[in-house]
Amino acid sequence: MTLRIKIDPDAIDEAAITGAARTLVDGGLVAFPTETVYGLGGRADSRATVEKIYAAKKRPDHDPLIVHVASDAELDGVIAEPPALFFDLVRRFWPGPLTLVVPRGPGIPAVVTSGLDTVAVRAPDHPIAQALLRRAGVPVAAPSANAFGHVSPTNAEHVLDDLAGRCDLVIDAGDTTLGIESTVVAVLTDHIEVLRHGALPIEDLGVEVRDSDAGVSESPGRLPRHYAPNSPMAVMDPRDRAPLPPGGGVYLGYDETARVLPEGWMFVPLGSRDSLGAVAARLYRVLRSIDDRTPRMIVAELSGRPGLGRAIDDRLTRAASGTVLRVS
Ligand code: TXA
Ligand code: MG
Repeated sequence: MTLRIKIDPDAIDEAAITGAARTLVDGGLVAFPTETVYGLGGRADSRATVEKIYAAKKRPDHDPLIVHVASDAELDGVIAEPPALFFDLVRRFWPGPLTLVVPRGPGIPAVVTSGLDTVAVRAPDHPIAQALLRRAGVPVAAPSANAFGHVSPTNAEHVLDDLAGRCDLVIDAGDTTLGIESTVVAVLTDHIEVLRHGALPIEDLGVEVRDSDAGVSESPGRLPRHYAPNSPMAVMDPRDRAPLPPGGGVYLGYDETARVLPEGWMFVPLGSRDSLGAVAARLYRVLRSIDDRTPRMIVAELSGRPGLGRAIDDRLTRAASGTVLRVS
């Protein structure tokens, strides 16, 4: 059975946090809010607990987990001798939506990282995540709290839709603020490699970025189908005015979209291309609610923008399993 407790992030109930932290320390699974998406947390230093996380999500064991800590003061045994650039990024961006991949420490079992000798670490910037991690005092492995491959959860309803009965506790703190996952980068001596575009635009990092495909690191989680609704979905480049398939469906566009849709197609705006933060914040909520109406098809327009646009376009493309509509 999954217990759901409401905690107000602006007036945190310490007794509730203490109870949730105890569940974590005792080896239970706790879904909790972060500023990006909800995570499904369990002790990262317990092999048995981490195996329960994979089982709850039905996640294949070759997709490694992110280890969450309250701050860099809690990284003892979690990481091993990272490059100096790691500490520079931590100082400038933690807590926040930046996940750093560095050598794995002796306190983290190989099951967390799918056998890799690197580990992904992040300190989330959310008052409840912070309070919970501090109180638990153990590193917490937490993938997004959705069934494997499905759209990530940005509120407690989403978590329960996917994982009811599969975790011990869900902390309900309303909608997350950023709405898409953290940016994941591998930290090397003098540069970084981007493993997943996310809520922190890489342009803001102020360090040399190299393409990961040619580099030493790899991100096993980069599957072509991910973050996906149940309805069939495709994306399209806004400049490429590909005709919409017959039969109708939902067209996800922007406030600026000037396009007359054929019969049977409903227009749903994601927001403005000039406010991509707001688009990211509601993206998964919109995808899940459209999916609940089981349309024949979802077609989403890509933002075509750098910065956050890269993360939004990446998620839309993976949600569509890489299907792109083009003018043939
Ligand atoms: O915002 C987020 O990052 C959320 C919240 C809950 O913190 N978490 C999240 O976790 O999105 P998950 O498991 O859904 O995605 C983790 C990503 C995967 O793409 C995985 O492959 C990558 O991080 N990753 C984890 N460990 C890695 C490693 N050692 N090397 C390369 N990639 C790694
Ligand atoms: Mg995920």
